[in-house]
Amino acid sequence: MKQYDFDRVINREGTWCYKYCELDHVFGRHDLLPLWIADMDFAVCPEITQALVDRFANHPIYGYTKPTDGYVNAIIDWQRKRNNFIFTREEAQFVGGIVTGFALVLNFFTGKGDKVVIQEPVYHPFRNVATANGRVVINNALVPTDDGLFRMNLEELEQIFRDEQPRLMVVCNPHNPVGIAWPAESLAEVARLARKYNVVVFSDEIHADLMLYGNRHHVMATVSDDAAAVTITCGAPSKTFNIAGLKSSWCVIKNPALREPFFTWLENNELCCPHLAAMVATEAAYRCGEEWLRQCVEYIEGNIDFVADYCREHIPCIRAVKPQASFLVWLDCTGLGRCHEDVIDLMVNHAHLGMNDGKMFGVAGQCHMRLNVGVPRSVLVTAMERMAKAVRELK
Ligand SMILES: Cc1ncc(COP(=O)(O)O)c(C=O)c1O
Repeated sequence: MKQYDFDRVINREGTWCYKYCELDHVFGRHDLLPLWIADMDFAVCPEITQALVDRFANHPIYGYTKPTDGYVNAIIDWQRKRNNFIFTREEAQFVGGIVTGFALVLNFFTGKGDKVVIQEPVYHPFRNVATANGRVVINNALVPTDDGLFRMNLEELEQIFRDEQPRLMVVCNPHNPVGIAWPAESLAEVARLARKYNVVVFSDEIHADLMLYGNRHHVMATVSDDAAAVTITCGAPSKTFNIAGLKSSWCVIKNPALREPFFTWLENNELCCPHLAAMVATEAAYRCGEEWLRQCVEYIEGNIDFVADYCREHIPCIRAVKPQASFLVWLDCTGLGRCHEDVIDLMVNHAHLGMNDGKMFGVAGQCHMRLNVGVPRSVLVTAMERMAKAVRELK
């Protein structure tokens, strides 16, 4: 079996890499280990690089292209095999990124002043994009559970649907920033309520291929007939295979009453034309990347275990909440007994770590940080040692 190398430290400075370029702007300094923006610091599966070299970089003409059967079928086959999510070519469309997909859905299915439900703490662009487009965001806040994860508040959700009459709801499935694999029963109940109250559900499944510790992903649209009727599913190989810069995502809608007008609008406005590199990388990833992904997930699990054990042994006032999916670890820093601003100051100006401020995902992120562990183990060791030293010095 080919062994892929996740230990290799690759210098991303000077490569237009967002997590480096924006350090000064976001954190006010550049001398930080960047453990924030959610891409990984691992080299992609070599078959993806080879495909890009052969069909993209080495071919001297970058002319107009058309999505091939090979590209679309690679998406269809991957979803059938991994998630038993079955759809036809007509039910799938390209979108140039998940946030872009959300913005398109928002603009097509809702109007200014319409209400949109999100479940905070959650990936912040849902709120930002909806607000920037003049929609009213309603927060169906997640409820903390003893293990540091969250559950949905479905009783409140029904009240919101009944009283506020929103047009759209976003389900982050699996959930970012806490990495929750939603149970099928919760998703089915959201779908039942959405159908009852005529709400469209946008299910963001970008982290779905990165299930950890044997947890299972449930594609929202597959959990019930109601779910198939109300759900717009968006997924991508971008997090899975570390190709976010190529902006390759897909949107699947089973219900023709939602799909046909939306896909026609996308086509009429030329909003669904994939970039050549996106198609080439996507097909290569889904056709050749399964073993790379298996090893990558194993490596991520090792990184998460390392962080959780390290906190327990050396920084017990910080709890690393083990995610069920993806490479983001929610650090509960409430045990430090400091205010949120002091926690940020500690991590940035003393530990020199560039992590996500938990509050950007909602008020439940108070005194929490989001740590990206999609990095070589040696980088993580340095990060945790810096964190422990900063906490020691605080006392
Ligand atoms: C839940 C979630 N959705 C969407 C995105 C961004 O996707 P894209 O770059 O395709 O817009 C991210 C990136 O961190 C994410 O975590």
